[in-house]
Formats: sequence, structure tokens, C-alpha cells
Amino acid sequence: MKRPEVQLGRLRLRNPVLGASGCTGHGYELASYTDLSRYGAVSLKTVTPLPRVGNPPQRVCEVPSGVLNSIGLQNPGRDAFFAQIMPRVLECLDRDQIIVSVGGDKVEDYVELCRAVEERFGTRIAALELNAACPNVSHGAGFYSRDPEAAAALVAAVRNAVDLPVLVKFNTNFPNYLEVAQAIEQAGADALYTTNTPLGMKIDWRTRQLVLGNGRGPICGPAIRPIGVLRTWELYEHVNLPIIASGGICTWEDALEYILAGASAVGIGSAQFVYPDAASRLEQDLDAYLHREGLESIQPLVGAAHKS
Ligand SMILES: Cc1cc2nc3c(=O)[nH]c(=O)nc-3n(C[C@H](O)[C@H](O)[C@H](O)COP(=O)(O)O)c2cc1C
Repeated sequence: MKRPEVQLGRLRLRNPVLGASGCTGHGYELASYTDLSRYGAVSLKTVTPLPRVGNPPQRVCEVPSGVLNSIGLQNPGRDAFFAQIMPRVLECLDRDQIIVSVGGDKVEDYVELCRAVEERFGTRIAALELNAACPNVSHGAGFYSRDPEAAAALVAAVRNAVDLPVLVKFNTNFPNYLEVAQAIEQAGADALYTTNTPLGMKIDWRTRQLVLGNGRGPICGPAIRPIGVLRTWELYEHVNLPIIASGGICTWEDALEYILAGASAVGIGSAQFVYPDAASRLEQDLDAYLHREGLESIQPLVGAAHKS
């Protein structure tokens, strides 16, 4: 039977299971724990024009049904990403599996970096992902998820600057997220990549101190899944772009729930901290389910719950 390929705008993936940015490293870190060929794609850890040290430690802590994280887009910056990281990525992932996630403060940061990535690696990667989602930085990223005009300006500027497919990762954790999604659609994105990560806090009752160095951080993991499913459902009804959904997906049943709500693909994030092979196992299990149902792809299931 054919493997379940998916089409997301101009982006064609071998299957609908993606490794989410920041939780899948650059692929090669997981190579000895999992079968990387089973990933539909890996969104690499977000890169910014200049190196960033990130937020003060502690940056990750466990909470009920999830984790708080406050990384603050730590990364070695464009030059080291090009010279040291990309050569290793190209050795362990195929062209159609590589999505470069780009962050920045200003629109120009994203445009220049996307242009540079395309010039240098355009024929060897599948797509660009704009990180317009991260609530852990004071400028850029999450800011674009709050403001439809800013989101549209960002997406249009990048769209006009590059030929590669452009995925836009945005945070649905704001009351106007449908408006923001529509602005992203009109500005020419190929697909929406959603995350819904409300901010949370943990206090160590013994020391009476905040656990995260930054005090607060977005909640990831199963705790947010029901919210993510609802947001996906609403987006499916209001936006025509394909949706890649992330938020608390650990098993094929979780992925299927998002697909029935309207997702055309799913991103697996922090589940990989517990089981580094969570995404490849999920892909295998989802494939087995499709076989049992006599389906060649997830397409007939996308948004199917809306018909009931
Ligand atoms: C430690 C950590 C680092 C992350 N870093 C990034 C990042 O660099 N870029 C990005 O777009 N998302 C980042 N994310 C968000 C994830 O890609 C994902 O959208 C989020 O964790 C929700 O999915 P989950 O509930 O499956 O973990 C990060 C999440 C965690 C937990």
C-alpha cells in the first residue's frame, strides 16, 4: 500500500507526522534513538540572525501533564547554523524532510535570514517556517501572533522575498487568533502551523522561589491538547489554509483527534523528551490504522468530525 503523502500548499510531505521545532533538535541528535526516515519532516530548532544565549536557567520544568519551558530562542545564530549545523542536517535527513524555522525581532530579520537560507540551501530543503509563535521573547516571534496587521506584513514580506514554501507557526493563545490566521492566509502563506501554549508558572514550595529563571513560560504537553483540538476545529471552519497542529500529541489517537478536527498534519513536540522515538512510532501506528481502515491517506479524515 502507498505511504500516506500529504500536500500542504506547495509543500509535499511523505507523511503527516512532523517533529516540532525545539523538541526534535536538528534531527541528528535523535538519529540513534529513532527511525528518522519515518518523519514527514523535521522543523529544525529556530535560528535567528545573531546568536542568542536565551533566558536565564532553569529553563524547563515538569508540571502536571506537561512541561513549562522558557528557552528564549537560544541558538548559535545564522553563521554557525550554516557552517556547523546544516552540513550535519543534510547528512541525516532527506531534502523533503527539512524545514528551517526562522525567528527574529523585526520583519527585516526574517526576510534577510529567509533569503540567505534560500540562497545557500534552497535546493536542499523543503520549506521555511516563520516562528511567529514564541511567547518567551520580548520582541518579535509571539508578537506577530497577537496582531493581524503585523502578521500579514511579516508573511507578505517573506513571501515576496523567497520562492520556497512558507509555513507560519503562530500561537492561537490570543482572543483574535482567527483574525490573525485569516491575515496570514491572505498574505500568502502555504500553511498554518499552530501551537497553543498559554503561559504558566511553578513555585518550589520548599525554597519559596520561582522554578523558571524567567519566572513564567509556556505550557506544552498533554495538558493543552483539548484546547489545541478546539482551536484547530475553529480554524478549519474559518480559514482555507492547510493546518499543521501541535499541542500535546503523544500517540496516534491524539494525532487522529487533531486530524478529525481539521489538521492536515501534526507536530510532535515534548512527547519526544519522554520517548525519543514518539514521532516515528506514532507515524507507524497511524499508518497501521489507515491500513485497517482501507485508506491510502489521511485526506478523507481531515475535518471529518465536522460532518457529524
Ligand atoms: C523546550 C522547548 C523548546 C522549544 N523551542 C521552540 C523553537 O525553537 N521554535 C518553535 O517554533 N517552537 C519551539 N517550541 C514549541 C514546540 O515546537 C511545540 O509547538 C510546543 O512544545 C507544543 O507542542 P507539544 O505540546 O507537543 O510539546 C519549543 C518547545 C519546548 C518544550
